[in-house]
Amino acid sequence: MSAGKGGDILCFFINGKKVTEDHVDPETMLLSFLREKLRLTGTKYGCGGGGCGACTVMVSRYQPATKSIVHYSANACLLPLCQLHGAAVITVEGIGSTKTRIHPVQERIAKAHGSQCGFCTPGMVMSMYTLLRNKPQPTMEDITQALAGNLCRCTGYRPIVDGCRTFCQEANCCQANGGGSCCLNGEEAADESELRKPQLFDKEEFQPLDPTQELIFPPELILMAERANPATLTFSGERMSWVSPASLEELVQLKTSNPKAPLVLGNTNIGPDIKFKGVVHPLIISPTRVMELFEVTQTPQGVSVGAGCSLSELLSLLEKLVPQFPEEKTELFRALIQQLWNLGSQQIRNVASLGGNIMSAYPNSDLNPVLAAGSCKVSVISNGGRREVPLNQDFFVSFGKTILKPEEVVVSVLIPFSRKGEFVRTFRQAPRKESSFPTVTTGMRVLFSEGSRVVEDVSLYYGGMGPTTVSAAKTCAALFTRPWDDETLSRAYDVLLDELLLPPSAPGGKVEFRRSLALTFLFKFNLEVLQKLREMNVITDELPEKMQIQPLPREIQPSLQEFQHVPEGQSKEDPVGRPIMHRSAISQATGEAVYCDDMPRTDGELFLAVVTSSRAYAKITGMDASAALQLPGVVDVIMAKDIPGKKVRSMFGYDEELLAESEVSCIGQMLCAVVADTWAHARRGAAAVKISYEDLPDPVFTVEEAIEKSSFYKPQRVIESGNVTEAFKTVDQIYEGEIRLGGQEHFYMETQSMVVVPVGEEAEFRVYVSTQWPTLTQDAVAETLGIPSNRVTCHVKRLGGAFGGKVTKTAILACITSVAAWKTNRAVRCILERGEDMLITGGRHPVLGKYKVGFMNDGRIVAADIQYYANGGNAIDESVLVVEKILLHMDNAYNIPNLRGRGTACRTNLPSNTAFRGFGVPQSIMVMENMINDVAMVLGRPVDQIREINMYKGLSTTPYKFEFNPDNMWRCWEECKVKSDYSDRRRAVDQFNQQHCWKKRGMSIIPIKYGIAFGESFLNQAAALVHIYKDGSVVVAHGGTEMGQGIHTKMQQVASRELHIPPSKIFISETGTNTVPNTCPSAASYGTDANGMAVKNACQTLYQRLEPIRQKNPKGSWESWVSAAFFKKISLSATGFYRGPDLYMDWNKMEGEPYAYFTFGVCCCEVELDCLTGDYRTVRTDIVVDIGRSVNPSVDIGQIEGAFMQGLGLFTLEELKFSPSGLLYTRGPSQYKIPAVCDMPLRFNVYLLSDSHNPLAIYSSKGIGEPILFLGSSVFFAIKDAVAAARSESGLVGPFPLDSPATPERACLACASPFTQKIPASKPGSFKPWALNI
Ligand SMILES: Cc1cc2nc3c(=O)[nH]c(=O)nc-3n(C[C@H](O)[C@H](O)[C@H](O)COP(=O)(O)OP(=O)(O)OC[C@H]3O[C@@H](n4cnc5c(N)ncnc54)[C@H](O)[C@@H]3O)c2cc1C
Ligand code: FES
Ligand code: FES
Repeated sequence: MSAGKGGDILCFFINGKKVTEDHVDPETMLLSFLREKLRLTGTKYGCGGGGCGACTVMVSRYQPATKSIVHYSANACLLPLCQLHGAAVITVEGIGSTKTRIHPVQERIAKAHGSQCGFCTPGMVMSMYTLLRNKPQPTMEDITQALAGNLCRCTGYRPIVDGCRTFCQEANCCQANGGGSCCLNGEEAADESELRKPQLFDKEEFQPLDPTQELIFPPELILMAERANPATLTFSGERMSWVSPASLEELVQLKTSNPKAPLVLGNTNIGPDIKFKGVVHPLIISPTRVMELFEVTQTPQGVSVGAGCSLSELLSLLEKLVPQFPEEKTELFRALIQQLWNLGSQQIRNVASLGGNIMSAYPNSDLNPVLAAGSCKVSVISNGGRREVPLNQDFFVSFGKTILKPEEVVVSVLIPFSRKGEFVRTFRQAPRKESSFPTVTTGMRVLFSEGSRVVEDVSLYYGGMGPTTVSAAKTCAALFTRPWDDETLSRAYDVLLDELLLPPSAPGGKVEFRRSLALTFLFKFNLEVLQKLREMNVITDELPEKMQIQPLPREIQPSLQEFQHVPEGQSKEDPVGRPIMHRSAISQATGEAVYCDDMPRTDGELFLAVVTSSRAYAKITGMDASAALQLPGVVDVIMAKDIPGKKVRSMFGYDEELLAESEVSCIGQMLCAVVADTWAHARRGAAAVKISYEDLPDPVFTVEEAIEKSSFYKPQRVIESGNVTEAFKTVDQIYEGEIRLGGQEHFYMETQSMVVVPVGEEAEFRVYVSTQWPTLTQDAVAETLGIPSNRVTCHVKRLGGAFGGKVTKTAILACITSVAAWKTNRAVRCILERGEDMLITGGRHPVLGKYKVGFMNDGRIVAADIQYYANGGNAIDESVLVVEKILLHMDNAYNIPNLRGRGTACRTNLPSNTAFRGFGVPQSIMVMENMINDVAMVLGRPVDQIREINMYKGLSTTPYKFEFNPDNMWRCWEECKVKSDYSDRRRAVDQFNQQHCWKKRGMSIIPIKYGIAFGESFLNQAAALVHIYKDGSVVVAHGGTEMGQGIHTKMQQVASRELHIPPSKIFISETGTNTVPNTCPSAASYGTDANGMAVKNACQTLYQRLEPIRQKNPKGSWESWVSAAFFKKISLSATGFYRGPDLYMDWNKMEGEPYAYFTFGVCCCEVELDCLTGDYRTVRTDIVVDIGRSVNPSVDIGQIEGAFMQGLGLFTLEELKFSPSGLLYTRGPSQYKIPAVCDMPLRFNVYLLSDSHNPLAIYSSKGIGEPILFLGSSVFFAIKDAVAAARSESGLVGPFPLDSPATPERACLACASPFTQKIPASKPGSFKPWALNI
């Protein structure tokens, strides 16, 4: 049967208002409907695939059977609109707004400083709101679970969690001392001085949560649900029809006549397939109204659960059942519960169905191995009748395929009770602890005859070990009928190793790791089984405590943020130095804050989609857009020949083409762009453009290949101090090592966004764009269109994160978009999809650092020679500047008298890398710190001692002869040791390690010295424009862009102090090239320093102009002075300018003054590592930072925490993977893991160094945007320390390689456990690895 034309009327509610749609396209997801049709733009697009949570909404439904209303969070990007018939949806706009009343969740996240760029905030708010609707007094565990699927790239999560924590009952304590003497950990109450310490926010201010104020569920929907509609619902769109049958019979009929049509429940598999793989389903069947699919019945064998039940429903059902039965009957239930808690995020579990998970037949499904091991059966129906099919090794046929016939429908799943003597366990290891598909996952079951250790039945199933869920049948046979003892198990490991073979180039890579995990999980199962047998008195020997395995700690504890009070005597009205909330935090939390793509469409606006190269290195032999131009809605295709002005962007004498014309040099290079009337049409058009290529030989991908072929960008740089060659002759020992650092994706939550609007008759263009450097975009667009810059104005309201990634590539995209706007004479919008953004825009440079170090036996490092190779990609972009900064920071905190660094940017056929927070410094210092670590390991001494021995002391000079005073670095170091209780905890860590065989703790303490300002002197300037209006209100414009770092808040504070008026009278609307021209990028941690001085200058000018009026009327109000000034014809508008320091670097002489000053910091971290899986937790982090006198401690602490977490991601988690042909595999949050709530240190303390002053920046502050990112490496070194402890257990001492990021895979393999050692390494060169090591 096919769906009828026209279709039914879809009816649902949004924010209490009824929505009826009579022509709904089944391809429409709730997210685009909200944003485009209803203009509810609070719900954000972050990834489109359920992986980031930015689009979280609450869905409520009435359940007639129980007469209850259920509320659940869901990702609007995967929610088909048609699925919402009869549902009530609440978006962030529906719970509160600044026009009416803000909701307590919005208020608390904002006031606790949990919103920086704000792009993730509405999603966070809605996840938390949904939790509170279901549980008004949640526990911390509830909160972290609710937020597990919401990513934030700015805050580091701590402030979000702290804001949400105020809803917990247990939060009702002083909290004055966080983890110290706080009611929360049951220790002594804080003393008075602790209580007097300034706090970041005052929870007494918060309005209480009043559940009676929430929107009620629409009674009309209750009536609708009670009056079950027996009619089939049909909705038809351009390419797809949607049918929702009302009965099982009808469903069977539909499936019989349309066996290929998928059943869509949660749409978490079908949705991403349609979106990302371009799969088209002409018909979709939605069985949500077929009651049989949701029935739960108990039988003597177990519980039969409807296949349509969501995974959350399954979880709560099992949790309800467990206490109702004897423990021995619920082994499988409990194993499933454990697995379900770890599966996806709450938003995913709330919609994804049990049947969908089984039938998706993912190779690494979390449920299938345990369902199969637990001997579950599915009950299926077709027009041939019903049958029961066991979920066993025969069920999963191949990737995504099961044994069921296409027309068969799974009605229910029988989950059996376990029997006496039966144990079921699951184990999984994932790239990130939560919200991540597993690398390997298992379900294991064994049955013993009563009172015996003889195996009566056993089944072991694995996910992630091949294209399907696999049974380790031979291993089971090796265990069957044998006693469960060392001998049997030892044989079983060998059989398993042979049985679960993975070829060395297996898809997904990580072959050795996966194979060792397979063994590890059997080992872990063994330990648990032995424990059970002990409890049953079947065996009596005790497992030594050291050999036991306990889970890693996971409880988040309160943390400390210490900063100084403002100086005594500072006026109460003066906001400088106070923890003022980000000025847009509330509107970001209510969804009212406007980002680029939230701007309303203009009449006739077009959408642009880019076509990118699918070859890494090839000649373009043809570009055929004719098919695209035939498609509905497609208006034009823009090619290089259409560019009226300059076709390239030039840097260091290298040209980067805006659109490639004759040759491509990476996959992802932009070739042309399709403009169409809708976003979907533009994308379909882009897919229809045919490009033909002729491959060119020998593309270069890796640094090694670049070295071999001397594929380098010029100039290469060197810095040398002392005489390195001679010094090596004088040292006691020499060691040579290397470390490879992977790149990093910016993963700003808002993808690249811009709208170009042609206006006026004289070739004028308004560019609304999410960029860090409006002037660059303005200049680039003008050059591209061949018009003067005065015809182009760039407007930047705010950015949803940037981190260096919205400078050069944004300008190029804006150029292409502006050509489209110029050619069509219509407004054109370009919003990159997450996958495209990741593919096209590049990221942090991967670096290979090789070093030779000479040192004395007392620990003094006398000489070091370091060679850095940065993988620059196919265009030079800022690569040479990055390499320069690498060399300028290579010494970090250490005075190495003879130090040479050579830096080279490699030209490769990968997408070009660009600026990223820290601009090469994190990579640079990592090499140095790793070298220091090696020296300590060679000498067998604690690494903190080697650091101390070599740290700069007294007035010092860097290798490029820049004089500085490291006293405050030492103060940070000493204070960090005290605050972190370093010595005692170090001892405790060593003791822990002696007591645990499979888990180790590690600790590290790392310093940083980070240069602030631009080495390119001309960039150290800023301007501002301040207007005072007749009513006394003030508008400030300056050159900095607001991207979450709080620059507008700080500028408001500066203006407030200088004009002596409250911040509420000061408004900052946007950054525009028409108000402040010739701006510099908001980068190099220099935004506040430069723009603050410019704003100060403008405000002082105005304040002085008002002086005569004030003197005449000293008791008058601000408004009266302003009014009088107007009538006296005094100008109430002024510009301000700041001419920053004249910095320079002479690369020939290898000396200079490339920085204004240094920001210092020290971080101590402790981790606990599961040596068998490489999983780890950061148990505690203490950071002490010298930022002079903070202009705004809440903003600065936010920068510190956010940067630290981004560094933690860089050094321990985030992995970019490229195929052997240069294609980026990791193109979304499902494959690329940035830190989530679960990665936050369990205790996360930040202390701003007191009594520090910096005469070189505004109000004695220091730049802080970037420096702390590197300190995320202290987690890396703590992991390395833990790994070293594990290795020493196997007799391995001395330095060992560990590349960055120290992922679970790398950490586990480095531990060299008995299981990893069993895995034979594949011979390099004998196979093509799945991914490149770039
Ligand atoms: C961001 C994200 C994270 C995830 N993380 C994990 C994870 O950690 N572990 C894990 O195991 N999974 C994970 N998943 C996968 C998720 O659990 C599955 O996609 C989901 O369970 C599929 O159910 P659904 O209802 O959404 O399926 P749909 O997409 O609606 O349908 C999927 C397929 O199943 C078929 N189907 C559905 N129901 C039936 C039925 N009753 N009878 C016959 N065929 C049927 C459909 O025809 C269709 O082909 C994740 C998914 C996403 C998007
Ligand atoms: S946009 Fe929906 S989860 Fe990312
Ligand atoms: S505030 Fe969370 S992504 Fe920016």
